[in-house]
Amino acid sequence: MQKHVIITGASRGIGFETAKYLASKNTLVTAIARSVSGLRELKAFNNENIFTLQLDITDPKSSHAIINHLNKSELYINGILHNAGLLINKPFMELSDADWESQFRVNLLSPARLTRNLLDRFSDNSHILNIGSMGGYQGSSKFSGLSAYSATKGGLGILTECLAAELESKNISANCLCLGAVQTEMLEQAFPGFKAPIQANSMAEYIGDFLLYGHKFYNGQILPVTIGNPT
Ligand SMILES: NC(=O)c1ccc[n+]([C@@H]2O[C@H](COP(=O)([O-])OP(=O)(O)OC[C@H]3O[C@@H](n4cnc5c(N)ncnc54)[C@H](OP(=O)(O)O)[C@@H]3O)[C@@H](O)[C@H]2O)c1
Repeated sequence: MQKHVIITGASRGIGFETAKYLASKNTLVTAIARSVSGLRELKAFNNENIFTLQLDITDPKSSHAIINHLNKSELYINGILHNAGLLINKPFMELSDADWESQFRVNLLSPARLTRNLLDRFSDNSHILNIGSMGGYQGSSKFSGLSAYSATKGGLGILTECLAAELESKNISANCLCLGAVQTEMLEQAFPGFKAPIQANSMAEYIGDFLLYGHKFYNGQILPVTIGNPT
C-alpha cells in the first residue's frame, strides 16, 4: 500500500529535497511551509504524489488545517518529518527574550504540538522523525552565536527519547537525526561562506529512506549524521 508522510519546512533546502525524493519513490507527501513558491515547485514536480499546505507551524490553527486535509483526502500518517527550522545567529548576550521564544516555538514547541494533535491519525508502525543538529548533540563541538538554536535542538532530542518511551505501546517509533553541515540557506546563515561536504538532495535521500524504514532498526535514538563536525 502507498505510504503517506508529512514533511514540515518543505519549501526549500532539506525538506524540499526530501519531499521530491519520497514522491519520486511513490510515497504520498503532504508538504508544509509558509512560502508558496517552493510549494508550487513541488506540485509542478509531482502533482499526483504531493499535497501542499501553506501553513505556519507556530500557528495553533495549523493542526486543524492538517486534520481537515487528512479527512478530505482520507489519509493516515505513516511518518512525520519535523524538519522546519529557525536559526538565529547572535551572540548570547544579544539574544532577546523574543529571540529565545521564537527559536523554541518553531524548533521544539511546534513539533510537540503537531505530534500531540495528530497522534490519533498515525497508523500502526508509524515513525516520528525529528531533525536535530550536531549543535544540539551532547559532547559535540559548539559554536558562538548558536546557543538558542542549539538548545532547542538538544531539547528536541530529549523529546524524541520521551516520545519513544511513551508511544511504544501504540507501536509508534520516534528518532532524531542530528545533522552536520548541509549546503542550504540556513547553513549560510550559521556559517557564512562555509562549503558543506553534503548537498541537500543527497541528505534528502538518507532522511527519506530513514523516515520510511529507519524505525525497523532504531527507536528513541538521537543519531549523529555527520562527516565534517568532530564530536
Ligand atoms: N543545513 C544544515 O547544515 C543543517 C544542519 C543541522 C540541522 N539542520 C536542520 O535541518 C532542518 C532543515 O534545514 P535547512 O538547512 O533545509 O533550512 P532552510 O533551507 O532554512 O529551510 C527551512 C525550512 O523551514 C521552513 N519553516 C521555517 N519556519 C517555519 C514555520 N514557522 N512554519 C512552517 N515552515 C517553516 C521554511 O519554509 P518557509 O520559510 O517557507 O516557511 C523552510 O522550508 C532544520 O530543522 C535545521 O535546523 C540543518
